[in-house]
Amino acid sequence: MNACHPRHPPEGTPSVRVATPHARALRLSVAPMMDWTDSQCRVFHRLLAPDALLYTEMVHANAVIHGDRRRLLAMDPVEHPVALQLGGSEPALLAEAACIAAAHGFDEVNLNCGCPSDRVQAGRFGACLMREPALVAECVAAMRAALAADGHAVPVTVKCRLGVDDDSEYARFRAFVDAVAAAGATQVIVHARNAWLKGLSPKENREVPPLRYDWAYRLKQERADLTVLLNGGIADEATALAHLDHVDGVMLGRAAYHDPHLLHRLDCALSGRAPQPRGALLAALRPYVEAQLAAGVALKHIVRHVLGLFHGQPGGRQFRQVLSEGAHRPGADWALVERALQATEAAARSVPA
Ligand SMILES: Cc1cc2nc3c(=O)[nH]c(=O)nc-3n(C[C@H](O)[C@H](O)[C@H](O)COP(=O)(O)O)c2cc1C
Repeated sequence: MNACHPRHPPEGTPSVRVATPHARALRLSVAPMMDWTDSQCRVFHRLLAPDALLYTEMVHANAVIHGDRRRLLAMDPVEHPVALQLGGSEPALLAEAACIAAAHGFDEVNLNCGCPSDRVQAGRFGACLMREPALVAECVAAMRAALAADGHAVPVTVKCRLGVDDDSEYARFRAFVDAVAAAGATQVIVHARNAWLKGLSPKENREVPPLRYDWAYRLKQERADLTVLLNGGIADEATALAHLDHVDGVMLGRAAYHDPHLLHRLDCALSGRAPQPRGALLAALRPYVEAQLAAGVALKHIVRHVLGLFHGQPGGRQFRQVLSEGAHRPGADWALVERALQATEAAARSVPA
């Protein structure tokens, strides 16, 4: 059987009125984050950052092939460019899943070689693949070949760490990257710290192993033709822009999620557009929210991604509080968002100048 034939046609998804980017910009991207970067989150991020590349949560290749694609591959047309991140380590399965992703309209297929969770290790994928460069290369080559055979010009990329456990040899990291690049990966996203496979939770594995941005810089210097995106601990505009002197792009995860206006300001800094106030950005989300409510989606599933919009601002706490308390109530609608905004503005007015 041709690995590329999806078993079901792509599902239609409702559209929203925000600008669709014309060019694929790699300078700024938002990291794949399980339970966070679902379609509703990505639509909000797209509105804030018209030029950023967005990533889905990781989906295992088996789930793409056998699971509920309508839910797992849900994507709104405004999200483009958007990459589907796959988990897995079986070349044939990944090839089939990659073709299904391409047929659903994803712009890139990314292979996760960075997740350290026990469950993922037990399945022999994620960060432990850093120790199996030949297998990862085989996976990349299988995905590339299947996509090409099916006529999809969709790039295959890899997101990795610097190494695992006590790996401390730059040459070993570069050899991993060289193997996946030789197999056809066009871009590597470097979460610039090791993954410690024993003794740390996934959360600790995003905080404890030290960051080494210099390895990603050096990789870009030595492999100029490879697109290198840097990820890990980037939390403000100035730092993000400074990294861009050394690598092709920056990927933000937690900072973009918790402080979405940072994502907006960074996108503006890179595009030359003027930043918009938070209230205006929120108002621009209204048509999407109302379309989703009309389609039966509960408000809580959308506004949970918006809670940080006033992060660090006077009234930011009130915004988060009104939304998180009210969004779970049956019938919650846009009026709640208006009330949250009013509470935020009232709190901000009461702050002494
Ligand atoms: C809640 C959460 C879920 C994550 N899920 C994934 C995932 O599915 N795939 C992946 O490659 N990385 C995942 N990550 C890691 C991020 O993509 C990113 O590499 C990491 O958070 C470091 O970037 P940051 O410091 O900008 O957050 C996750 C991170 C968080 C906080």
